[in-house]
Amino acid sequence: MSQATRWAIPDGLPEKMFIDGQWVASASGRMIDTIDPATGRVIGRFPDANTDDVDRAVAGARKALGGEWRATTPTMRGRILARTAALIREDAERLAYIETLESGKPIREARGDIETAAGYFEYYAGIADKLQGDSIPLGPDFMSFTLHEPVGVTAHIIPWNFPLVTTARGAGPALAAGCTAVIKPAEQTSLTSLILADILHQAGLPAGVCNVITGYGADAGASLTAHPDVSHVTFTGSVPTGKTVMKTAADHVASVTLELGGKSPLVVLADADLDAAVEGTLKAIYLNAGQVCSAGSRLVVERSVHAAMMERLVPASEALALGHGLDDAQLGPLISAEQLKKVADYVDGARARSVSVATGGHIGEVTDMEDGFFYTPTILDQVSADEKVVQEEIFGPVLCVQVVDSPEQAIAVANGTDFGLVAGIYTRDINRALEFARDVDSGQVFINQFFAGGIATPFGGTKQSGFGREKGLAAMASYYRVKCITTRLT
Ligand code: NAI
Ligand code: MG
Repeated sequence: MSQATRWAIPDGLPEKMFIDGQWVASASGRMIDTIDPATGRVIGRFPDANTDDVDRAVAGARKALGGEWRATTPTMRGRILARTAALIREDAERLAYIETLESGKPIREARGDIETAAGYFEYYAGIADKLQGDSIPLGPDFMSFTLHEPVGVTAHIIPWNFPLVTTARGAGPALAAGCTAVIKPAEQTSLTSLILADILHQAGLPAGVCNVITGYGADAGASLTAHPDVSHVTFTGSVPTGKTVMKTAADHVASVTLELGGKSPLVVLADADLDAAVEGTLKAIYLNAGQVCSAGSRLVVERSVHAAMMERLVPASEALALGHGLDDAQLGPLISAEQLKKVADYVDGARARSVSVATGGHIGEVTDMEDGFFYTPTILDQVSADEKVVQEEIFGPVLCVQVVDSPEQAIAVANGTDFGLVAGIYTRDINRALEFARDVDSGQVFINQFFAGGIATPFGGTKQSGFGREKGLAAMASYYRVKCITTRLT
């Protein structure tokens, strides 16, 4: 059996999109093929939505906002979200399989993502009936209080690196707050978001409350963010597209949450537990083959432990097996030929400028998967601060090592890019760690465990990494607005 067809395509994959409680084709009738990035095989297809489809979805969301969803009590909203979490868990193995087939990520990572997606609905289910306002003391002649109202129809533009989990991260708080939603998953990975539409429907969500439209960014995505009835746009993706989304939303004064890229530092000080630092670095750069907005893609290491870190990181990187996500390889393929070329061009460019390639640095070859988009785990050593590969997001398994001579210099180097998403530090000196946390310009700081945190911890960026916060209670602020009511007592 050829490798490409060794993995069965599950029955019953969605081929339509979900608008106003109905499964529908696109107005144009056009479809988009979706592929397995490990083999290049077409595994499914979904509609290519245009402005007409977007109009229908937003109209459905608007109708539901003022209609059935408005009439649904907060307790019932929470119950529907809790049921959604339970249904995701019941279907977890199938969802993980499909997520891996379409995104290429190792199945154990996909399983983790599906559980996290369920976790978002569970977490926000608990908030739906606890959003409450204030009373403001103005003296005996007045009464003043605030209401938390849903902002309205929300748009969610989703990237391909964490398909279901990013959808859940936005839809969970939006629906909990009483908003309605139109979700546009990435054109590379739409299947699990479409299945989520079905799950939400089974959980009892009224028609029109959550719509999933599939299509390309420049067409469906742009029409959605431009729609005058959309009140808030939650966008996760690249910096240039984020800027376009923000400008488009400005034309109709919609608010935006922008979760953009990063070039996040992982600092290792001389006194660090090197075992923990090595383990953390490997996870920081090789999770999802480095296609992670919060990847730790710069290792900022004190000179006295640089050699010891490299002695461990290089063989550990070389030992990682590339392969199909459904074989639970340690590293899967990149998402597309385009992404593979982008990563290869960055590394080839650095090599041509005499940057030292300590390991990797070439296209990955996997037996019988010649059409897959594999790239080898790569470490670029002692890279100077102004190098392009240090300054720009590569979005692949490429670690840049920057050597520093003091903890103070580590902070300066950590802050030395246009991004500010996450920053990690490994040290046994808690005071140094907290000084770093105070002085580093980023939305999250991880001390002694990269990616520490989870559903409940607020997440978002500074500088070009964007603004607004997702996850945790902080995410709710995007989805309600405060109305203040003041009455004079006569
Ligand atoms: P992208 O930012 O263009 O796409 C992300 C989402 O935005 C997709 O759903 C896409 O259809 C949509 N989109 C594209 N153009 C749009 C527009 N004009 N209006 C509204 N929505 C639009 O990212 P792309 O092209 O997939 O990848 C390019 C690079 O972006 C990657 O190489 C990577 O460096 C970075 N990236 C960063 C992500 C992150 O999580 N920070 C996620 C995905 C990509
Ligand atoms: Mg793009």
